Amino acid sequence: MSFKALPGFRDFYPAEMAIRRHVEGTWHAAARAAGFEEIDGPPLESLDLLKAKSGDAIVDEIYAFVDKGGRDVGLRPELTPTLGRMVASRAAALKKPTKWYSVPQLFRYQRQQRGRLREHIQWNVDVIGSAEVAAEAEVVAVAIDALSRLGLTHEDIYVRAFDRQAAESALDNLGIENKTGALQLIDRGKLDTDAADEVLGAKPAAALREWFHADYTPEGSFAEFLEACNSYGLSEYVTVDKSIVRGLAYYTGTVFEIFDRGHKLRAVAGGGRYDTLVETLGGPPTPALGFGMGDVVIAELLKDLGRLPDHPPRINTFVVPIGDEMLGAAREVVRRLRDAGDRAEAPYVAMKLNKAFKTAEQSGASRVVLVGPDEWAEHKVQVKVLESGHQESVSLDKLS
Ligand code: HAM
Repeated sequence: MSFKALPGFRDFYPAEMAIRRHVEGTWHAAARAAGFEEIDGPPLESLDLLKAKSGDAIVDEIYAFVDKGGRDVGLRPELTPTLGRMVASRAAALKKPTKWYSVPQLFRYQRQQRGRLREHIQWNVDVIGSAEVAAEAEVVAVAIDALSRLGLTHEDIYVRAFDRQAAESALDNLGIENKTGALQLIDRGKLDTDAADEVLGAKPAAALREWFHADYTPEGSFAEFLEACNSYGLSEYVTVDKSIVRGLAYYTGTVFEIFDRGHKLRAVAGGGRYDTLVETLGGPPTPALGFGMGDVVIAELLKDLGRLPDHPPRINTFVVPIGDEMLGAAREVVRRLRDAGDRAEAPYVAMKLNKAFKTAEQSGASRVVLVGPDEWAEHKVQVKVLESGHQESVSLDKLS
């Protein structure tokens, strides 16, 4: 019998794990650079919480089951319900604005396709307790900072933003009652298809198309948001795009998604303002906003553009015992090097010199330390730098 990971789930062998750590490390650095503090919550939440945030239909899109205690539970498909719950239960004690980030593993029961799996790692960056557009611009700036640190520029990726309120007031003005249906048509790029006539009726669908394709001048807080983005140096990244309305019901203001310029992949990130969620989850009225950025699309994009970093070498120093009787001495050298902060290892059994040098090269080491009996008696070892071939005798207490 042989076993494979479940469809849509990934094994992270060292090469894949190195990419994941590269991306996650960048996320942590960008969030901390902007003063965000890390949080996490449980991967399993009560189904009621997930439904309260997203509606009953969420059950079809997640891993939901009854646990052994008879509780209805679900694996978290996003962090936002947990974050909303955490904010709601400590709302009074939190200093506003609260700036939190998180790097959770999420689970969604959806059909596997390029850039969309049943499990992914998603960076969440949220500001709680601020109604200011400056906070919206800041989270966009943090997202772009991370992507820049990963080697992506405005020629590779861009932000498409819109004002959910402008979309909703257009729907009001046009007398369209099925707002959720209309927003989802826009979100899924279906407004110009027959599906729109079926969902909204032919006349309202035509009126909505007319609004959608007409020119639009940003106003009010959305215009201020765009200006704030410019002062963060994002003018080459941010575009206004009516098709970004985020079909999800809980967004209330500025919404945005980040895409690759080549339009080959699904969204890299998405988010926006969600001012009513904390209250819906039992907390006081609390403005909030943020975004999620997944690891899957980023890794695909970096791979497509050839911007993945080289696989980092496993060790820096390979310590070679000259003969079996020097194995213990080699281990002592290894311990000294590790204590000094180096990444070092010795083989478990002694090996011939040429095999030792080949092994050192294969492991990515930049130097070899030779531990031979005569020098060891004088508390010395030979250090050879592989690239230059330079070799010298170094006393043990000078080794670092
Ligand atoms: P979302 O648009 O569902 O938003 O997901 C955000 C990002 O997570 C996507 O743009 C994508 O990069 C990644 N992602 C989502 N689903 C998958 C999947 N099945 N496989 C791989 N990657 C995926 C949210 O989840 C919001 N809760 C984000 C948010 C935070 N809004 C405010 N704060």
